[in-house]
Amino acid sequence: MIDTIKQYLQEVEGFTSTSKEEIETFRIKYLGKKGLLNEFFAEFKNVPAAQKKEFGQVINELKKAATEKVDALQEALKDQNNLTGKYDDLTKPGEPVEIGARHPISIVKNQIIDIFSRIGFNVSEGPEIEDDWHNFTALNLPEYHPARDMQDTFFIQTDPDILLRTHTSSVQVRYMEKHKPPIRTISPGRVYRNEAISARSHCFFHQVEGLYVDKNVSFADLKQTLQYFTTEMFGKSKIRLRPSYFPFTEPSAEVDVYWGLETETDYRMTKGTGWLEIMGCGMVDPNVLQNCGIDSEVYSGFAFGMGIDRIALLLHQIPDIRLLSENDVRFLEQFKSSI
Ligand code: PHE
Repeated sequence: MIDTIKQYLQEVEGFTSTSKEEIETFRIKYLGKKGLLNEFFAEFKNVPAAQKKEFGQVINELKKAATEKVDALQEALKDQNNLTGKYDDLTKPGEPVEIGARHPISIVKNQIIDIFSRIGFNVSEGPEIEDDWHNFTALNLPEYHPARDMQDTFFIQTDPDILLRTHTSSVQVRYMEKHKPPIRTISPGRVYRNEAISARSHCFFHQVEGLYVDKNVSFADLKQTLQYFTTEMFGKSKIRLRPSYFPFTEPSAEVDVYWGLETETDYRMTKGTGWLEIMGCGMVDPNVLQNCGIDSEVYSGFAFGMGIDRIALLLHQIPDIRLLSENDVRFLEQFKSSI
């Protein structure tokens, strides 16, 4: 028995910890009501008289050692708490940090970039103040081409050569002038058109245009890419291509996505048809490739372009495009939970 107690004594002397819980477990084990020491004291009466003296000494020694150990460790713990004390209680939940919200245009733009980057498209940017060549002429829209009227242009001062870009196709021209195929790039950015401002249209808005140029690029590749995009972006894979006209693509098409007619909102958004027009697209006109120094006998390509604002209005059910540029915090704050 005495030997066992001596072993405990060693254990007590060797014990150390900085954890409050561990120290408390240790205290209960030795000094608690049902602890070892009380057990030994209770045992005292059964110890033969000859050993009583030694037994008494050892358990007193054990009690002293355990008490001192607990006191010392608890004291050390207090000191440590005092040390961190100047930072208050570090386990307390933090103060909420006021964070801003991303603008819905940025949210949608980032989603589009993310989707196309997964299939190898990079991001290209260019100037908002453009020259006639990059915005029009290189894109198969020579002077006096009637299609120039489709895009009511803001000219800078009186120089008809300098203008605010009406689409980010101008970035694609710049990109093709600098890079050899294969080209896979998307060009997001702000564009300007001299249009009356209303709930549905504004004199500036945002686009993402895409361009893919390589050998043997076909219309089927275009359709597949668009279908991948609508599936990822809207969770809708049913699309239709309606013949259309753009000077820089041939053939050209408008892309509609089948939104469905499940809810009243679907009816309103699609004017009861279930279909929603989301972008223009087509095979890059060989003239455009030639204008940008790419051999149209060897290479072909497709291009597409969509309005970010329009998609943001659709996805977030925003009733008026002007809200996107008024910077009203009550509006902007509502996008805090979006990425
Ligand atoms: N640039 C066209 C526009 O602004 C969109 C488009 C891009 C159409 C590429 C076809 C191909 O309306």
